[in-house]
Amino acid sequence: MRIVLCGYMGSGKSLIGKKLARKLHVDFVDLDQKIEEWTKKSIPDIFKEKGEIAFRRLEAEVLEACLLDNSDDVLSLGGGTPCYGVNLDRIKAQPETQMFYLKVSLEELTRRLFKERNARPLIRDIESVEKLEDYIRKHLFERQHFYYQSDVVVDTSALSVEEIVDQIIVEMKKAAE
Ligand code: S3P
Repeated sequence: MRIVLCGYMGSGKSLIGKKLARKLHVDFVDLDQKIEEWTKKSIPDIFKEKGEIAFRRLEAEVLEACLLDNSDDVLSLGGGTPCYGVNLDRIKAQPETQMFYLKVSLEELTRRLFKERNARPLIRDIESVEKLEDYIRKHLFERQHFYYQSDVVVDTSALSVEEIVDQIIVEMKKAAE
């Protein structure tokens, strides 16, 4: 079975994906990292040099390649991946695939992302916590519709990383029964 993790920037997709893959003894695939390997450029550089539309095209192409490889693994998407083009339809059409939405509150996302915003091209120029919270509120509202099409929504608010990983494994076993 392939586990796909989606959620907003800063929702812990990569961290949880890595731990989950280790616990399940399967490969971990990080879509952003794959894009960086393919292009030999960082995500901020791709945005800067080619713009967001070119990035979305690349993202769709690399996702397609990852999905073609039908192995058991954990695949962490980028925050925008399920919200563009036919990406979500492609993921949902895959057999033996379970998609999880790592749901994080607006306040927590704002707290985490304000510190890390420099590395993220979409939010790097937002100067204050208030403006960032406003941006995330609107953006999340637009994107949630896609995230909620996951098979399982994990409300991560009161959970430790270990608990999130364990909850995903429980859900995964239920689906395999
Ligand atoms: C993006 C999220 C990023 C990366 C790119 C665009 C988005 O991934 O794909 O900067 O549109 O939300 P993370 O969610 O892993 O930060």
